[in-house]
Formats: sequence, structure tokens, C-alpha cells
Amino acid sequence: MCGIVGYVGNENAAPILIECLKKLEYRGYDSAGIAVIDKNEINMVKATGKIKNLCDKTNDGCSLSGNIGIAHTRWATHGAPNDINAHPHVSNNKKFAVVHNGIIENYMDLKKELVDKGYKFNSETDTEVVVHLLDMYYDKDFKKSVMKTVSRLEGSYALGVICKDYPNTIYAAMLNSPLIIGVGVSENYFASDVTALVQHTKNVIYIEEGEFAEITREKINVFDCTGEPVAREITRIVWDVEAAEKGGYEHFMLKEIMEQPRAIKSAIEPRIKKGKITLDDSGMPDDIMKDINRIVITACGSAYHAACTGKYMIEQLARIPVEVDLASEFRYRNPIINKSTLVIVISQSGETADTIAALKEAKQLGAPVLAIVNVVGSAISKLADYVIYTWAGPEIAVATTKGYTTQVTVLCLLSVFLAQKVGSIDKKTASSLTEDIQQIPKLAQRAIDLNPQIPYLARKYHNERSMFFIGRNTDYAVCLEGSLKLKEISYIHSEAYAAGELKHGTIALIDNDRLVVALACNERLLDKLVSNIREVKARGAKVLGIITERSTKIIPESDDIIYIPEGNTLFNAVAQVIPLQLFAYYVALENDCDIDKPKNLAKSVTVE
Ligand code: F6R
Repeated sequence: MCGIVGYVGNENAAPILIECLKKLEYRGYDSAGIAVIDKNEINMVKATGKIKNLCDKTNDGCSLSGNIGIAHTRWATHGAPNDINAHPHVSNNKKFAVVHNGIIENYMDLKKELVDKGYKFNSETDTEVVVHLLDMYYDKDFKKSVMKTVSRLEGSYALGVICKDYPNTIYAAMLNSPLIIGVGVSENYFASDVTALVQHTKNVIYIEEGEFAEITREKINVFDCTGEPVAREITRIVWDVEAAEKGGYEHFMLKEIMEQPRAIKSAIEPRIKKGKITLDDSGMPDDIMKDINRIVITACGSAYHAACTGKYMIEQLARIPVEVDLASEFRYRNPIINKSTLVIVISQSGETADTIAALKEAKQLGAPVLAIVNVVGSAISKLADYVIYTWAGPEIAVATTKGYTTQVTVLCLLSVFLAQKVGSIDKKTASSLTEDIQQIPKLAQRAIDLNPQIPYLARKYHNERSMFFIGRNTDYAVCLEGSLKLKEISYIHSEAYAAGELKHGTIALIDNDRLVVALACNERLLDKLVSNIREVKARGAKVLGIITERSTKIIPESDDIIYIPEGNTLFNAVAQVIPLQLFAYYVALENDCDIDKPKNLAKSVTVE
């Protein structure tokens, strides 16, 4: 979730660009950079870490002159966070500079082609191919070279490009990544996010997928991918700066819940090629499963809950025994691990102390370690033998949402991948399961759209003292996460229970009016769940049934209903958890809780 901005006008560009970048800090980033054209030369400064470091290097931008420039805050994806990988990137002859948000999926093929033609790559980023393509296609016509370059790119991009031969022109292009053009008086802008611009102008132009804009001091022209002009209207933004930072949402948590369909897509898309799952980017060797007879997954909190869904998926599809353990327990139980055990650690931050300790323990015992991590360059990503990034983008709310769902999504991919490796499924099954995984982003969106009643349910139930979440199989794994979400942000006590286990003791706590949230999405186990619901109803409980769209069995047993879209039951945890996240969010809102920063909690738990 990088941020990009550009400016062309009569003022010194660099201080303005730095001010704009500061407005994007809330998105999270690990390096920043800026490039301006001065006297027909491109001058560039980059800095790892905070924007303050860029300010220190440039005297708040004042040491860079020039009325045109582009700037970037980077959240590392391809390559570690450092000065070399930070944007902008320049062509070998320093004629072009580019900033980029998104992921160029075909960058490996493009890089090979460019290297063969003699281009020298400095960074590990996917973005660098763009700047060399611009140079390769340049024939004294900047617009044409931009058009030809973007026609070669697959994946997602919001790009800002400058060329030293054109000291009054920026080109900005987009596909599957947000980009807006800011309209000023004798000055114009572009940015990835309205937040960067509202302090300078509230007049913006939204360009559409595949289009690009030619931005000069005096004018903005928008073109389609063939170079034909298209008319785009100016829109007036009504948001203030604070609202804009949260994308118009009241809390980061709600913004991040709503971002999930897109985040999940980012986790899936680059990993399905020609209908087949590839995890080449993890560094795992082809014969990874050759000597493996067992898998242990270890993690903390929500990441542990993701691991629980992973156990069901991997065992079901790959038929490999999977053990799941809390990282804080794993290390002190003298675990039976050796080189035939694949240890998987899961962590959003990549900095959780207990998970790091478990990883080190596993390595010491000789096990190969695969990490599922969000933050590039984090301790866990460096310590593990192999890494699958979740590509969720920065998560700011303390309670994880998109961090968790992208972990589950990666586990869906991994389960089919491993099943193929060990030969437990045939090609036809693998390809149909892969298609099911490709549906997850749509199902996630539908899970949001299907349930406008959640704020009303929250109003009805926000005074509960305690709630129970019950379910079986993967539904139970989702209950664990739904229950944690509720308690951590609304401070209402809640427990998740395997539905069949309740009667072995805990049912003593069910009494008149106690709310039981019953996840009943597993068709095969519905009759069993009906019995468990009746057990709690007989003791006076109210039931909030979570059911799939076509399911009717639970309706007569429930006081209220939340609907889940129909999807492959094994992979449907993502769609199931989203309404539970929303329920927790709205209950906390009713109770006036500090949703983004719940009491006693920290985003990254770096102590044991
Ligand atoms: C709950 C939550 C925590 C984290 C846990 C592990 O909403 O965010 O339970 O899941 O602290 O953190 P990571 O995934 O960063 O290792």
C-alpha cells in the first residue's frame, strides 16, 4: 500500500511533495523518495525509514529545486526496505524517473527481456522494469513511450512518470490501483489517495482503468489506452483531511474490513498462473515435500486461529497430519520436531516475540520453516527458510481483519499446492479447487453486501455481558476468531466452543437470554448443529444463526440471522468471518469503545 504523489506548477516542487507524502504516512511505509527536474536534469533523493529522514536529507525539500516532481512512500513488496529499492527509480541514462503503486505480475519476463537488451537493474523491485521500458520505447515522444510501456504491464499499477526532455509534463496511468488527478490554479497534481491532496485542492479528476493523464502546469488531458482523448469531469471533494485518511470511514478497522476483497485478491492473483497455483515467490524448492511426513503450524492470537483453519484444509486435501500449536506453548513443551517436519509460522507483523522464539526453536531442531507473513523485511521473514507474503498492505487498527483473512487465503492456496505436490488430488480436482479459491474475493464482498442488518443486530445485543460462539469443523475455527474480535474491541466476555463440546461442562453457563452465535455453514454437519442449538435454546438462550444463503434448517431455530454466501465449505472461512468482524465492530461502536486502539493491547507484541 505505497503512496504516490506528483506536482507541476510555479512553486518549488519538493517541499510540496514532502508535505503531501506526510499526509500519506497513516498508510504505513518503510521508505520514501522524491525526484524533481531541475535545469533539464533529474535529481533524486531517497531515505529508508520515516519521511523525517527524507526531510533531514533535503532540508524539508528546500535543497532540491525544480517546479516538477514525483514522490513515493514505499511499503516493501519485492525486495527489502532500503534506499536502493525505495522509489523513484531512474533509467540507466537518468532520462526517466518513475513512482509506482501495485504489483507488476509479469516483471520477471520483462526483466529478462530488458537484461538481454543490455539494461542494468539496480534494485530488486518489480517497478524498475517500467523505467527501462520507457527508455526502450522512447523515440523523442514521451506520450508514445508511456503508452507502449503500460501496454506491456500485467497486474496492477498507479504510475507517475517524468522525463528530463519534458520539464513541464507528468504522465500518470492506472490499472487496478487507485489514482486521482488534483486540479489547481496554474498547478496540477496526481496522487494515489485523496488525503495527499485535500490541503492543496479539493477539485479532482478520477481516471478509469487503463487510462492515463498528461499533466502540465496549465492543463490536464486524459487518454484511453489507445491514446484517444477522453472527457473526464472535475469532482469536488467534500471530505476533511482526517476523514480522508480513513478513506471516509469512521475507523481504520472498518476501512480495513472493507478493504478485504481487494487485499484477498492481491494474495491470490499473482499466484495463479494458467489456472495453476504456483508459490515460486516463496523460495520453496520443487521437492519440498520429498522427506516431509508431518506439518506443525505455530502462531499467536488471530494468526493461530488462521492456523486452525489451515489444519482442516491441509489435512482434508493433502492428507498430511497437521498439528497446530500456540507459539507461546510450542517452545516450552520440548516439541517433537525434526527435518521431516515442515514447520509453518504465521504472523501479520513478522515481529511477534513468541512466534520468533518458536521459529528459532524449530530451526534449531532441524526443521525447514515456512513463514506466512505480511510485513516484508520483518524479523520472521528474514529468519524463515521460505516466505509466503500475504500482501494485505499495512494494517493500522490493532485488531487484525485483513491480516487474518489474507493468512487464511494463503492457507487455502497452500493446501491445494501441497495436495498437488504429494499427489493426493488429481489435476481436475486441483483445477476446480483453484477456481473455488479465485471466487474468494467476490464471496468476501458478497458477505459484506448481504448483511446490512448487522448495525441493527449490534444495537439489539450490545448490552450482553457474555456471548458464546459455537460451530463444528472449519466453522469452529472461525468461531475462535469471531469471539476474539468481539472481546478485544467491545470488552464483552465471549467464548468459542466446538458445538459438540458445550454439553461437557460449559453448558452450565447457558441461561436465560444468553446470546449464542451459532455458525452453521457446514451442510454435512447441519443436523448435528441443530441438536446443539436446541440444547442451548432449552436453557433459555437466544440464538444468532450464521447460515449460508440457501440453507433454511437453522432459520426456525434462530432469533436472528446473518447470511454467508455459498462457496466451497472448506475455503469459506474468509466469507464467514467478515460479518463477525462487522458484528464486533458495531457492538464496540454502540458501546463507545476506542475501536482502533483497544485498551491493554498493542499492534505488535514484541515481548514474551
Ligand atoms: C487480534 C490480533 C492478535 C494478533 C497476534 C499475533 O486481533 O491482532 O491476536 O493476531 O498478536 O500477531 P502477528 O500476526 O503480528 O504475529
